[in-house]
Amino acid sequence: MSTATASTLALRGGTPVSATPVPFMKPQLHEEDIQAAIVVLRSGMLRASKKCAELEERFAALTDARHGLTCANGTTALQLAYGALFEPGDEILVPAWTYIATVSMVVAAGCVPVFVDCLEDTFQMDPADAARKVTAKTRGIAATHLYGCPVDIDAFEALAKKHKLRVVYDAAQSHLARFGGSGIGAYGDIVTYSFYATKNLGTGEGGLVTCNDDTLNRDLGLLRSHGETDKYLHERIGFNYRMNDITGAIGCSRLDRLEAETKARQAAAARFDEIVGAIDGLTPPAVTPKGEAVWHLYTVKFDTDRFTCTRDEFCDALKAEGVPTAVHYPRATVDQPALSKWNRHNTPIASSLSARVFSLPMHHGLTEEHFRTIADALEKVAGAYRA
Ligand SMILES: Cc1ncc(COP(=O)(O)O)c(C=O)c1O
Repeated sequence: MSTATASTLALRGGTPVSATPVPFMKPQLHEEDIQAAIVVLRSGMLRASKKCAELEERFAALTDARHGLTCANGTTALQLAYGALFEPGDEILVPAWTYIATVSMVVAAGCVPVFVDCLEDTFQMDPADAARKVTAKTRGIAATHLYGCPVDIDAFEALAKKHKLRVVYDAAQSHLARFGGSGIGAYGDIVTYSFYATKNLGTGEGGLVTCNDDTLNRDLGLLRSHGETDKYLHERIGFNYRMNDITGAIGCSRLDRLEAETKARQAAAARFDEIVGAIDGLTPPAVTPKGEAVWHLYTVKFDTDRFTCTRDEFCDALKAEGVPTAVHYPRATVDQPALSKWNRHNTPIASSLSARVFSLPMHHGLTEEHFRTIADALEKVAGAYRA
């Protein structure tokens, strides 16, 4: 006979908090998105045309940027930005803690990434560490607005001004985030976005760059499409990093809902702050002062000294209770094998975070029942593993 009680972890044969797992993500396509794509398919105009132009204009306006250009994905958005601003051999300050593309595309541009540590409370790139790592060869800053939260834009803009650096903000995870009362498109030289399927605005694949300078906008446009200034006249070497109008139509249709969905994410984050904050040993993510986060991910810090288990054991137990989690990221960017050649910049916080964080389900479809399940599961698992 089983000796399991209500407080026995589901992992050890107890009853799970919820037999139906909380969805980690929410399918994002609505019927109107599908219809929007069908209209384009029926029109026969498959290449970048009116729908890409509409997405560019509307997205730029929503983020307080002057110009927007769609492109194939967030990686090509970074390639366009770096290609427009940097020369091979330039040293670029990059986050030690981000998704790899922010850094790997610096390498792909022939530049030298200089790793900057992140802050312990926000997980964002640390401007003070960036300032320490400026050398005579530094030409730029590539800062990620990670998990939906802006970096300390004031501090990076001041550093850039002092040393005449160009700034790219990778906002792949931060559609519609704000800083100091303005959209993040108002700051820096170029802001890049990804519309990968799971992003706050997902089109499958897709990307966008914004900027506020007419000449830069022209350069980005040339790089995006083989440097073509007239039919088959190529002014400079460029690429084909264009979006297509099917993707553009899905993007426009989803953009109609993005503000409402962002508000739902922000409300969910406020609930999680209470739930997570009530558990000794777990710390909610802090938001950069003056920043308004859009919560692509809600990433919690796990204090290994306060529990008898590892972070992975804790997450396995949560999963068994009906709460799936994920780790963003299981390895710091600075510690990726592909970047080992450039890993010589002392970034202890980033390197230790991979064993100390996990992300809770975060999307606009979380319900009261989901919040209750998550709260109960966290309390139960934390209680079972209390040190
Ligand atoms: C911070 C960051 N930068 C860049 C990218 C690359 O975007 P994409 O997958 O659209 O190429 C991602 C995608 O996950 C990302 O999270």
